[in-house]
Amino acid sequence: MDVDYDFHIESPPDALKALFKARRLEAEPAYRSGVWRFHELLPFLPDLSRVVTLFEGNTPIYEAPLSSEYSGISALRFKHQGLNPTGSFKDNGMTTGVTVARQTGASAVACASTGNTSASMAAYAARAGLQSIVFVPAGRISHGKLAQALEYGARVIELDGSFDDAMRIVRELAVETGLYLLNSVNPFRLEGQKTIIIEMLEQLDWAVPDWIVLPGGNLGNCAAFGKALHELATLGFIERMPRLAVVQAKGAAPFYKLYKSSDREELVPVSHPATLATAIRIGNPVSWTKALRSIEWTNGVVEQVSENEIADAKAVIGRDGIGCEPASAVTLAGTKQLVSSRIIDRDETVVCVLTGNLLKDPAYTIDYHSRKLRLETAEGEKMILVTRANAPERLPADKDAVRRHLKL
Ligand code: F0G
Repeated sequence: MDVDYDFHIESPPDALKALFKARRLEAEPAYRSGVWRFHELLPFLPDLSRVVTLFEGNTPIYEAPLSSEYSGISALRFKHQGLNPTGSFKDNGMTTGVTVARQTGASAVACASTGNTSASMAAYAARAGLQSIVFVPAGRISHGKLAQALEYGARVIELDGSFDDAMRIVRELAVETGLYLLNSVNPFRLEGQKTIIIEMLEQLDWAVPDWIVLPGGNLGNCAAFGKALHELATLGFIERMPRLAVVQAKGAAPFYKLYKSSDREELVPVSHPATLATAIRIGNPVSWTKALRSIEWTNGVVEQVSENEIADAKAVIGRDGIGCEPASAVTLAGTKQLVSSRIIDRDETVVCVLTGNLLKDPAYTIDYHSRKLRLETAEGEKMILVTRANAPERLPADKDAVRRHLKL
């Protein structure tokens, strides 16, 4: 399902662009949100006084010299959606999704999640006074995310199965019961996620980058980004399209396989997805048809990267002083690969979207720096080789020993 509009925008694009920007200085709660200040481009809500907001969005764009050099691009930037209230891009979509849930009179909201959706939904449901129920694959979501869902008061149902099992069950429950489904199959969530693109372009003074690179899991973001760009082009906000590059982890890359297939007719699910980037450990993404449409609209590409490429790219992003969770680092790893295969030109401009905060999954980062990253696959356990480890150094609690060690 899509939200489709008969846009009735009276002001010319330039006037609206100025208005969006000016709203950042207003006290009005809805305009302090980096989602709702763009409401003319998601005009499904007549009354902004009842939005459920944590003042999401308004996330920064960073230049990143080490990451640029690593990828071979002269102008690579990161838009960091991990600096949202609950630490991921999901907040852009939950403010719209939960606002609609409350409006429709739902008493409980639900989702399947690899962690971030559940953390975000739990927070926004708490703000709205709604019960939230999250379904997660037992033992396969990071502690940071699980902790958030528990703290925000969600009922956390750990299922002995995969994310895809959880997704199937919650979709069926939403049809059979009164649970309001807040996965990205909910089109109102995607309306909020469109503003990631709108805000990015605003921050670039509406100079369209050549490429926007994003991770692909359940493919909601790809669906939302393509819709945003299509609408912005149709309404005259931009004169040309950037190209989208979706990057998946090799062990969980059904969309990459679809993209590479000759007819692109039907996505074949991956039955045992395997990646340490647990956020995107998904074998049967629900939004693949919309994501494919986004790739077509933008002349986009799909890439896949290996576990050690993800791990090293994440460490490089950290050394730029930025940091992110593993799933976000596929963007830098993917850019590097697309540059070496000459799909992205060195002189092109690239914005990578970092989707989640470094602190979401500290266990991964510590294992990386201690050279203990291991992936369980159907063929057994595999060590992930890393090249930028920065292990802690243990010393006796003795000043002289410390001086000797640090050569001070
Ligand atoms: N990056 C992070 C940090 C994520 O949490 C997710 C998805 C993605 C990328 C992929 O985005 O699904 O729109 O393609 N996380 C979902 C969740 C599945 O349950 O938190 P997508």
